[in-house]
Amino acid sequence: MSIQHLPSLTLGQHQVPYPIIQGGMGIRISGARLASAVANTGGIGIISAVGLGFNSPYYDRQRRRGDFFEANRKALIDEIQKARELSPNGIIGVNILVAARDYPQLARTAAQHGANLIIAGAGLPLQLPEYTAESPDVALVPIVSGVRAAQIICRKWKRTYGRLPDGFIVECPKTAGGHLGAKYEDLDSEESNIEQVIPQLVAYLRDKLKVNIPVIAAGGVWDRADIKQMLALGASGVQLGTRFITTEECDADPRYKEFHLQAQREDVVIVPSPVGLPGRALRNEFAEAAIASSPHLEKRCIANCLKSCACREQKKTYCIIQALDKAARGDIEDGLVFAGSNAGRANAIVPVADLMAELTALSN
Ligand SMILES: Cc1cc2nc3c(=O)[nH]c(=O)nc-3n(C[C@H](O)[C@H](O)[C@H](O)COP(=O)(O)O)c2cc1C
Repeated sequence: MSIQHLPSLTLGQHQVPYPIIQGGMGIRISGARLASAVANTGGIGIISAVGLGFNSPYYDRQRRRGDFFEANRKALIDEIQKARELSPNGIIGVNILVAARDYPQLARTAAQHGANLIIAGAGLPLQLPEYTAESPDVALVPIVSGVRAAQIICRKWKRTYGRLPDGFIVECPKTAGGHLGAKYEDLDSEESNIEQVIPQLVAYLRDKLKVNIPVIAAGGVWDRADIKQMLALGASGVQLGTRFITTEECDADPRYKEFHLQAQREDVVIVPSPVGLPGRALRNEFAEAAIASSPHLEKRCIANCLKSCACREQKKTYCIIQALDKAARGDIEDGLVFAGSNAGRANAIVPVADLMAELTALSN
């Protein structure tokens, strides 16, 4: 039996001692505090850029006054600066939703204000290199759930920008928290089974494109055994979301973390979302109303935040910004509490350093 170290992870020009990325979690679940704590302990910390302006000094949330997009931009700059102060030398990235109307502006802002990498999901980031062209040091990492999406991105980036992504995150719709990259009926499909997608994507990049681009596995990764399993499939690293919620440094209200801590595995449900993708969340009054398409859910559009939105355009589902913001501020019955399928496994709220030490300890 040999003692095993985890390998380091390199994305573009940035290297970290451990192959662990803390997944971006909106709204304000992963901000500067969580991201910097992960970066300070040898992983990559990610700030979620989604809706940061909503609960910021730059926007009047109560009266819904102010320029929401400008507030998002300024709040993102503040959050990156705060993370940098807390972790001057760590590797800090920003997660941006392609489905958001201000995605180009947020990508430019993240690149100009010192993010080391940008992770982009909820849509194909086909023009991302254009937005960050003046900051070539910023690593660009799309999230995909299948090989086809990765192929489309590689072809388009190569043809138009003469470059390829610095890494891919493969997010498994069967297990990940938040918005899922598959239709409801395809959540369990073989096509998006991570155990197939990781080796297929690694083979495509290595054998077809003849490049060495790291592939990161996301969804359902909880402990060292899961990390080992993903590395054995050919992944160069893992991204964890849910596990980082029950940490002291997670930016959500303590009631949010406590709700996660008290959850049972049976409490994990699939809810519809105005983004047009299913989402994985914890059962509460809000989730039950969303599943039942309750007419009482708030349908007023407050910020015109998404490019395409079932709430704004068809008066269906609910306002996602409000639902996520409420939960993050501790209103855990009236808000939407996203969670991966592993929710319910945590048994304490721990410092990030302890969690990282557990995940990275030498193993047999
Ligand atoms: C509360 C919560 C919020 C999330 N928000 C985002 C987000 O804003 N953008 C994104 O790309 N992924 C988001 N995700 C997905 C995570 O970044 C991560 O990839 C996923 O949760 C991994 O699965 P795991 O939770 O089983 O570790 C979210 C997940 C959770 C649990």
